[in-house]
Amino acid sequence: MNGHPPLDTHRLSEHARANRTYWNEESDAYQERNGPMLKASSGLGWGVWQIPEAQLQVLGNVRDKDVLELGCGAAQWSIALSQLGARPVGLDISEQQLAHARRLMEEAGVDFPLLHASAEEVPLPDASFDIIFCDWGATSFCDPYLYMREVERLLRPAGIFAFSGSTPFCELCWKPPMEIQGDRLLRDYFDLHRIDWEDGTAEFMLTYGDWVRLFRRHSFEVEDLIELRPAADAVSTYVTDEEREWCRRWPREQIWKVRKKA
Ligand SMILES: C[S@@+](CC[C@H](N)C(=O)[O-])C[C@H]1O[C@@H](n2cnc3c(N)ncnc32)[C@H](O)[C@@H]1O
Repeated sequence: MNGHPPLDTHRLSEHARANRTYWNEESDAYQERNGPMLKASSGLGWGVWQIPEAQLQVLGNVRDKDVLELGCGAAQWSIALSQLGARPVGLDISEQQLAHARRLMEEAGVDFPLLHASAEEVPLPDASFDIIFCDWGATSFCDPYLYMREVERLLRPAGIFAFSGSTPFCELCWKPPMEIQGDRLLRDYFDLHRIDWEDGTAEFMLTYGDWVRLFRRHSFEVEDLIELRPAADAVSTYVTDEEREWCRRWPREQIWKVRKKA
């Protein structure tokens, strides 16, 4: 972002550092594989099935709103929101993902700030945004007990925080070396918080009760928990047809929509 100090890697949490390395290495292949699917939904689709925002109505009218996307990747969402009249800021920890964002912004002929930072420590002033959101963005890879402090600080009163990602169901039924989720519970529900993967990266998931208590502790009220179910014939570049059958039976993805108290 203009006039902003460069990312101070020494201040990053250990998992943020590992996730940055992972996303820098993975970025080109990720955009090549999934970019066309994100483009087909005009950047306004949620999750691995790209279920349209027009159908789910999570963010509502974004015109003239200040919007922060946490873990924007190639910023397909922020580009689309900017075309709808919002004032987005795209934040990501991976400079390679931000390079793709710059490329797509140029192609789309839009301009807005991109910020190279971690969602666990955002170098922006308090009360800067009306909406903070992401679609499988930084909230999957950051500790909720760290980023919720930032989200509360950065949002204006009555602001919306909405984010999609995995579900407790998915995390409990999936343990490497399995390729996809099975139909048995393999992890302890009550131990959910940080999930370490073999490649050194980490993801985060809380129990439903812990999510609700965390939101309330930060002055948020829950407006919705949308559990995404693909259509019977849905296709995705993220997951296989076999996995779709699992997703038809159990929720693999969810969107929390919470609002900061006025
Ligand atoms: C699965 S991608 C999703 C991006 C975009 N919504 C999409 O669908 O392509 C996750 C993004 O989160 C970013 N990320 C991971 N950890 C982060 C952190 N600590 N702070 C900010 N961004 C982070 C990654 O660099 C990556 O671009």
